[in-house]
Amino acid sequence: MNARAAVLAGLGGWLPPVRVTNDDLARELDTSDEWITTRTGIRQRFVVPPGLSTSGVAVEAGARALESAGAHRVDLLVLATSTPDHPCPATAPEVAGRLGLGPIPAFDVAAVCTGFVYALATASSMITAGVADSALVIGADTFSTILDPEDRTTRAIFGDGAGAAVLRAGHPAESGALLGFDLGSDGSQADLITVPGGGSEYRSKGLAEPGDAFFAMQGRPVFRNAVTRMSESSQRLVRRLGWPVESVDRLVAHQANIRILSAVGADLGLPDEKVVANLDRVGNTVAASIPLALTDAVATGSVVPGHRVLLCGFGGGLTWGAAALRFPDLSVEPLPYHAAPAELAPAH
Ligand code: COA
Repeated sequence: MNARAAVLAGLGGWLPPVRVTNDDLARELDTSDEWITTRTGIRQRFVVPPGLSTSGVAVEAGARALESAGAHRVDLLVLATSTPDHPCPATAPEVAGRLGLGPIPAFDVAAVCTGFVYALATASSMITAGVADSALVIGADTFSTILDPEDRTTRAIFGDGAGAAVLRAGHPAESGALLGFDLGSDGSQADLITVPGGGSEYRSKGLAEPGDAFFAMQGRPVFRNAVTRMSESSQRLVRRLGWPVESVDRLVAHQANIRILSAVGADLGLPDEKVVANLDRVGNTVAASIPLALTDAVATGSVVPGHRVLLCGFGGGLTWGAAALRFPDLSVEPLPYHAAPAELAPAH
């Protein structure tokens, strides 16, 4: 076994201040609180106000993760995002600069909703290889900036936010050590989740139309793939680690739809109380989804030190991935749910 491992040392998340409830959406679009709650489990989401972009939410989450780790410096920053501030350059160097982290290596990873797991695997591997002794891994997205204002399907689902983790070099036997990853992709289904325009392909073909800059998704096949890919990836990883599936204490899966979470839990044979859910309060926050759900679970005492935790993501690309760790003792600030109504009980 490798004598060096990346160990989770800090965790934090942030949500922008504008809360959009299902009723708010129903005033603008042909939808209802009843439809959105029943079909997705989502009751509200947060979006950025004008002037705030992905770098801004990433900085807020990054600062909270550094605080949680008691760290002022890291050797590396990896930002998972599919809504960078600009197509070029990457947003990570801007975030590193605004966090006062100095001239460290900083780059973006684009794997849509799997972005955080991919970024975690990248940073963990760089620590294990001795390229860095510590890293800040941020998942941040502001999908509200790329949604078609008239598309009730996507506007019901997506919210903005950022979540972050600090990793440090340690030993594989320590609690918090990242014990393994399972990552995959299937480019043959790239068109299921896409922003068609704005990239080199459309520009080189001269196809660009104004509406092509909006995010588009084929809900049904995405739903089916999300369940299969997350279940299979989780199963492959626990098998490789020699963990019986029932020994997993918490599954922190991508928060896309409560019915997807329930189906993945059922495929793995995990009872509902082991499946972490906070999507009722934040929606699908893309690369921020897993670290936001994990931060919430730790802050509310659902994930405790010693728990066997499985992280699992699925997203555009298609991409998927899982990561596993035994949870360490961390001090984590609760997520700022910005005056969420008291009656918002967790989805389960
Ligand atoms: N309000 C009311 N009706 C809506 C609606 C909304 N917000 N969004 C879609 N509908 C309508 C559709 O237009 C359709 O109407 P029709 O039957 O007249 O054509 C009907 O509801 C059923 O649509 P369908 O897409 O079949 O519903 P669904 O049960 O599959 O739910 C999703 C749609 C998007 C919620 C679901 O497919 C889903 O969650 N997919 C995965 C999305 C996801 O997780 N994406 C990110 C993955 S990383």
